[in-house]
Amino acid sequence: MFNFLNFFEKKKKNIWKELKGRKDYITILAPMLDVTDKPFRQIVSESAAPDIFFTEFVSTDGLASKGGKKRLKKMLEFSDYEKKNKNLIVQIFGSNPKKYKEALKEIKKYDFAGIDINMGCPDQKIIKQGAGSDLMRNFDKAKEVFNITKKNSGGLPVSIKTRIGYSQIDWDWIKFVFSIKPDAVSFHLRTKQEMSKADAHWELMGQIRSLRDEISPDTVLFGNGDVLDLETAEKYIKESGIDGILIGRGIFQNPFLFDKKNIDDLEVSKRLDLLLNHMKLYEEEFGETEENLKEFGKRLKNFNLMKKFFKIYVNGFDGAKELRIKLMDAKSSEEIKEIIKDYLK
Ligand SMILES: Cc1cc2nc3c(=O)[nH]c(=O)nc-3n(C[C@H](O)[C@H](O)[C@H](O)COP(=O)(O)O)c2cc1C
Repeated sequence: MFNFLNFFEKKKKNIWKELKGRKDYITILAPMLDVTDKPFRQIVSESAAPDIFFTEFVSTDGLASKGGKKRLKKMLEFSDYEKKNKNLIVQIFGSNPKKYKEALKEIKKYDFAGIDINMGCPDQKIIKQGAGSDLMRNFDKAKEVFNITKKNSGGLPVSIKTRIGYSQIDWDWIKFVFSIKPDAVSFHLRTKQEMSKADAHWELMGQIRSLRDEISPDTVLFGNGDVLDLETAEKYIKESGIDGILIGRGIFQNPFLFDKKNIDDLEVSKRLDLLLNHMKLYEEEFGETEENLKEFGKRLKNFNLMKKFFKIYVNGFDGAKELRIKLMDAKSSEEIKEIIKDYLK
């Protein structure tokens, strides 16, 4: 019998193909746990938005469990910009296909543009679960979780973010990833063993692209690692012929990088406004709000965790270091506001 549901699911737009057809190259803010949360993604979108945002990675085991779901659901929320632009991809991790199936039921309630599977995280806690980069040592499991995701994605495109090998550069892994035909793949150009220490192997990107062309020409291909600005990204994209780039840590140096502008060109008072706005969004999301107290009985993230962002806004001007020291000592958002008010007097 004709299956209407399947028909409509298949008709869902594929954001990767759509962007590839429309843009010279595609830009993505790389997912970073405890960094690219909803408040920070909102700040980046107001400064200079990339084409695609990813959520932080979310545990499929957690989403599949009753207790975990409530807390993790916060990680599935969209910023206003993402709601409007429909360009948020959810990133998931795990190794149990049954849990993927359960988690996807939850995920499908939202309006994500796609689903990305993490097959590159080098954290021991994740590896012990057989997830993240451990999947590079278990091709069968990687295929199983990919297939179950594809089958239960409700027609959304499914992509993979991975590295170029576990202990060493592994061409079999790279070929394998293309062989399962993901809608998109992002290669962080390091092995798991290299963590973030060695230089990213951009010299291999062209060869990887040739394999894509040979094995899975429809897969949209991204490179990632050590890129700090779009000028460098454009050079690598031109040299290797890939479709786009993910930038992670570079955002700490310049939240305006996706528009080829520089935060250093912004008046200091405007930079401090950005910090205050970021802090406001952070406190609304994770602070001691009525909603958080009612739902969870406490604030969701420690106030001090916000401080890692201060250097983005308070850097490279006279007195920045002294101001930062004062801000780092503050115990509350009220204190931060006072210090900044004092500074701008
Ligand atoms: C603090 C931090 C958290 C990260 N969390 C994730 C994550 O949740 N999912 C993921 O796929 N990669 C994660 N990564 C890896 C980044 O997405 C990216 O692949 C890596 O930082 C290399 O890119 P870059 O040199 O542009 O930062 C994380 C990296 C950092 C520094």
